[in-house]
Order: sequence, then structure tokens, then C-alpha cells
Amino acid sequence: MSRRSLSLWFPLLLLLLLPPTPSVLLADPGVPSPVNPCCYYPCQNQGVCVRFGLDNYQCDCTRTGYSGPNCTIPEIWTWLRNSLRPSPSFTHFLLTHGYWLWEFVNATFIREILMRLVLTVRSNLIPSPPTYNSAHDYISWESFSNVSYYTRILPSVPKDCPTPMGTKGKKQLPDVQLLAQQLLLRREFIPAPQGTNILFAFFAQHFTHQFFKTSGKMGPGFTKALGHGVDLGHIYGDNLERQYHLRLFKDGKLKYQVLDGEVYPPSVEQASVLMRYPPGVPPERQMAVGQEVFGLLPGLMLFSTIWLREHNRVCDLLKEEHPTWDDEQLFQTTRLILIGETIKIVIEEYVQHLSGYFLQLKFDPELLFRAQFQYRNRIAMEFNHLYHWHPLMPNSFQVGSQEYSYEQFLFNTSMLVDYGVEALVDAFSRQRAGRIGGGRNFDYHVLHVAVDVIKESREMRLQPFNEYRKRFGLKPYTSFQELTGEKEMAAELEELYGDIDALEFYPGLLLEKCQPNSIFGEMMTCPLCSPWLLKRCIYKVPEPWHGCHFLDSIFPSSACDLGFNSHWIKYQAAFQETLKIRIHQVLCVLQHVASH
Ligand code: HEM
Repeated sequence: MSRRSLSLWFPLLLLLLLPPTPSVLLADPGVPSPVNPCCYYPCQNQGVCVRFGLDNYQCDCTRTGYSGPNCTIPEIWTWLRNSLRPSPSFTHFLLTHGYWLWEFVNATFIREILMRLVLTVRSNLIPSPPTYNSAHDYISWESFSNVSYYTRILPSVPKDCPTPMGTKGKKQLPDVQLLAQQLLLRREFIPAPQGTNILFAFFAQHFTHQFFKTSGKMGPGFTKALGHGVDLGHIYGDNLERQYHLRLFKDGKLKYQVLDGEVYPPSVEQASVLMRYPPGVPPERQMAVGQEVFGLLPGLMLFSTIWLREHNRVCDLLKEEHPTWDDEQLFQTTRLILIGETIKIVIEEYVQHLSGYFLQLKFDPELLFRAQFQYRNRIAMEFNHLYHWHPLMPNSFQVGSQEYSYEQFLFNTSMLVDYGVEALVDAFSRQRAGRIGGGRNFDYHVLHVAVDVIKESREMRLQPFNEYRKRFGLKPYTSFQELTGEKEMAAELEELYGDIDALEFYPGLLLEKCQPNSIFGEMMTCPLCSPWLLKRCIYKVPEPWHGCHFLDSIFPSSACDLGFNSHWIKYQAAFQETLKIRIHQVLCVLQHVASH
């Protein structure tokens, strides 16, 4: 073929090879025009609904593995993968049964293969780079680059839909107070099934409040935790100025005060940072730590004290080995080590407990070195909402023979020092936490928090619970009874919402029936509880520590050696590991584990 004819044929060939342009679809003809067709959530399998004209739409199926007008026709590989992939409930069943088989797996290289799979499969469910945010329901530079926003997994319900949740349900969402009173308020304390204690609850709250810091000034949708991950901003502050106030500037250490011969965080007099205490609490009684709201609960200040002691302990070790390092290098290296320690505890103890898996989870960044893995992370608003685990909180707090009401416990500035760290750890580890899922387990003192989350989700126009189930590869529920697994609450929900497809995200998470022996329902779980885990806890730790295997690592001896003298992490190893990874990978795991 001559050069000339080649140059004529080439564009023609290209035209033939190009996929046909997808057609713009007309909305359902039975619906009065002009309803925004995206209100029907027509695009499946993570396809994106793009509106054309007034009542036309097109699904963008790019890289979903599906094609067709609504992204429902699987490509060959997708079909093959779907046919071979076990269902989420079967996977969960496999991971939580067959103890002896898993004992064998955990002792072999298969453990690492499976751990790699867990990490990659779970994190692939999250869009990276981040997609939407509360102000942008389409891909934009702003949502990609502006870290002041929480990201959003699903775009918001379009503003011009016939009902608040799209097209299904009533014209008005149920009264939020009524909803909370009827379906979320605790009648009788329902304990967490696998023995989770309130020390675990305070750990959860303490850990998550480094990356959940909704901005009061900017409003919902915005965060003050700009690191979007496990950066220990709750220990060191979320900005340099706060960090500097908290630092001793000697040997890398943080400021501290000694009370009754024990080390505690400094007072606000000694480290001048803003802490949120009720008016009238004098500065010398306010403890100064990285997160401004941690004065709220003795459980939070307890963990702040433990991490403060750990920071200063690691500084001593480092200085001994590196006498030439200056304050800055000692501080920065110690921070990295503590990040490594945190991740190790969170993956191997905290998530392990929550998952109930017999597969022994492993923190090893090298697992992902040869895998394709997106390391950047952005905290999602949905993640924030689902982590409102307030049903964990009991009716009152028992310390020794003394029972504390909420009024006595909240902002109690003397309890930590009066009892000391050891006694409080012991007390909180003995008291059972509440079950999170399954409904009706909010103590009335924290019910207002649930009300606020629901109000915020309405303001932010979060999509219905069933759309989120689909987004995470779960089948949408077809009835309220299928959701709750019982009749009474299902009937009340029917009355309030009128349609299961109009059920809101947070109520859905909290009212979904719990998986067997689990603290959550299917959507929030990768459930954490199993008889085996409990048994294992009992082997490894003394009686009162049930259900909190992770404490075994923090406090290795039954006598509560609170110096963090655990041997599971050598600081050099932690240092090297943290240098190699980006921390948010843990969050991906945690987020997915929590949402499945
Ligand atoms: C007695 C214990 C607790 C009290 C009094 C409490 C109180 C509160 C309050 C007042 C808010 C702010 C709500 C708003 O802005 O309207 C909040 C937010 C939140 N709480 Fe709790 N809480 C408690 C325990 C927990 C626990 C155990 C968790 C579990 C992880 C948790 C997770 C959260 C989360 C994720 C937020 C959102 C934080 C943000 O976006 O800034 N809380 N809580």
C-alpha cells in the first residue's frame, strides 16, 4: 500500500475502531416532565449520572467494568470476576468459621496473601483520588485539591427532585426528634455481644477524633483535620502553633506535669492552647492536649495521658541511642514511631476485634510494595457519619464501687488524677459497652448527637441507605422487615418513611439487624466479634480485659504496666516502616471494615 493511501485509510480505520458514542437517554416517559432523571439513580455499578437538557441523562460507565445505557452490562472480565467472587456474606462466614483451618493459614505464607487481598479489595472500594464534596457533585479541581472539605463517596441528592431522597418516599422526611425517640433511644441497655468494653469505646473515640474534626466555623462538610489521616494531630495539635505550645523543646519531649508522683498532660496555664471546657473551669484545672475537645471525658484524657507518656518514653530511648540528635529530630522521629505504633494497634488489635475474623490481620507495609495501591487519602463525610458510635456508651460509668452519672462524668477534671491511669484503665476495661447496631441503644444523654447527624445529613443531602448499599456491592433491601429482621421497628419505619428506598443513611446503619454475634449490621461491619476471638482474649489476658485484645499489646502485663513497655514493636522497626508507608492505608481498611 502506498504512503498516500495509508494516510487516507488510517483516519477511517480509527473511526471504525472507536467505540460508538453512547446515546443520550430520555427519562421515564411515565413521569411528568421535567423531573431530573438523575433523581431515579438510574446508573448502576458506580456509573455516574450526567444530565443533558432538562429531562435527559447519560450514564458515564468509564472504568466501571460495565457498559449499556445504565451501566448494567458486564464486560467479560467483570462477568467472570462476579461469577467467581463469593458473596460478602459468604466471605464473612468463611472468615469467621473454621478456627483450626485458620490457625493453619495464620502460620503460613497464605496469611500474607490474604492480608494483601483484604487491603487491596477493601481500599479499591473507595474512590481515589477523591471525587465529590458537599459543594460539588461532579468532578472538579476544587474537590480534588481543597483539603478543607470532607470528600463524599456519593454525590448529593439533586436539589430539584420530587422527594427529599430522590423520587421515593414521602414529600417530607420524618420529624427527626420523633425518629430518634422512637427508634434510636435506649429502652434497656443492650450490651455489645462480643464483650467489647468501654475502654475500647474511648480508644475508638480518641483515635478517630484526629481525623474527624468538623469545622464549627466553616460548617458541615468542612474539616479542621487537614492531614486526613493518622497523623496524630490529636496528640500534637492540628497546626504548628498548637504543637509548639505543647512541646517542651528539650530532648524531643512534650510538656507534662507531675501530680501525685505521676506524669499527666500540662495544664492550660503551662501550655497555652485553647481547650473546650465549660465556662468557669480555671486554666490550672484544664489539661492541655492536641485535641481541643478531649476535656469532655476522662476516658479521652486517659488515652491522651498514655500517649504523652509513650512519647516521652520513646524520646528517652532515642536520645540514648542517638546522643547527637537535636530536639527537633528526636521529636519528629518519635512522632513517626508513635504513628507506627498506633497503626499496629489499630490493625492488629482494634480492627481484628471488630472484624471477628479468624484470619490474623497483619500490619506490614511491605505487603503492598508490589501491588497497585493508591496511597493518598481523604476522609469522607459518610465515614464521619457512620462512626458516630454513641450507642457504645453505657447508662452510667462505674469506677470501683462508685457509679457516675453523665452529669458527674462529663468534663470531670479531677477523676483521672484522683484514681490514676491504672485504676481507670482497670475500671473501663471491666464495664461492658453497648451494642451499636440493631436500634434503640442510645442513652438519652447522647441522643442529641444522633439527631444532629441526621439533621446534618439532610442539610448535606446524603443519598438513601440503599444507594450506599449498592455502592459498596451489597444488595439493596426490599423491605423494612428485611432491614431490621423484626416487625415492630419495621412497621414504625414504614410509617415514617413510606418506602425502604427513602430510608436515610445513618438511621439505616443503626437500624440494620446485627450479624450473628456482631456489634453491627452488614453494612457497617466487617464484623468484629466471634466466640473464638473472645476465647482468645481470655487466653491472653486476665478476666476483666475481655473483648479488648488490643489492650494486651498496649498493656502487656496483667499488672497494667502502663509504660507501654510492649515488645511487639521495636522503635527502629517502626521508624523504618512508617517511612515506607503512607498512613492513610489503615484508614482505607478501617473505613471498609467498618462499612461492611
Ligand atoms: C459520653 C460519650 C460521648 C459524648 C458525650 C459525645 C458527644 C459528642 C458531641 C456533643 C458531638 C458533637 C455533635 C455535634 O456537633 O452536633 C460528638 C461528635 C462525634 N462523636 Fe461523640 N460523644 C461521645 C462518645 C463517642 C464515641 C464513643 C464515639 C465513637 C467513635 C464518638 C464519635 C463521634 C464522632 C465521629 C463525632 C463527629 C466529630 C466531628 O465531626 O467533629 N463519640 N460527640
